[in-house]
Amino acid sequence: MKLIFATNNRHKLTEVEAILGGRIELISLAECGITEDIPETSDTIEGNALQKARYVYEKTGLDCFADDTGLEVDALGGAPGVHSARYATDGHDFAANRELLLRNMEDKSDRRARFRTVIALILGGEEFLFEGIVEGEITREERGEGGFGYDPMFQPEGYELTFSELSPEEKNSISHRGRAVTALAAFFKQR
Ligand code: IMP
Repeated sequence: MKLIFATNNRHKLTEVEAILGGRIELISLAECGITEDIPETSDTIEGNALQKARYVYEKTGLDCFADDTGLEVDALGGAPGVHSARYATDGHDFAANRELLLRNMEDKSDRRARFRTVIALILGGEEFLFEGIVEGEITREERGEGGFGYDPMFQPEGYELTFSELSPEEKNSISHRGRAVTALAAFFKQR
């Protein structure tokens, strides 16, 4: 079976293919001729995932899925949430985003936060949503070198280490994206 994954990130694609157990061949956006930026203008994570999947489906008519992720911080009313990629600037400036978040959290004692990924799947024209959540807290300073985005300042529940300090395998086994993809894999297994 072939499925378009609305990403051009090869690393993400290979990782997801592995979780799906090798039975499904994933095709990237570039491979199906979509080179433009897909609009992400919704004010929810679900909305953005659906918007991206619908865009690909309308263009290709093929089965596809898209994911969207946000970091929701309780003391900030759920921010940066759907705006996680563009929290500090218009570009995906990870360091600037972390700096702003640390500053906004300076006087907060409630450090609880979660990463939430939603996958929107369109199969034979029908839409399905899958969610993956990892609870944790925002550290008071950045720790670790690995990962990307907010990883150096996110400590998952039950761990003394940040996502950046965990190995990629450890992170994937408990991460929001890992859990959402596992839910997608379970759906395909059941069918
Ligand atoms: P996307 O929807 O996967 O592009 O994620 C949106 C934004 O959330 C990214 O630009 C990152 O800032 C943040 N993010 C997503 N996944 C992770 C993660 O696994 N670790 C740290 N930050 C992440």
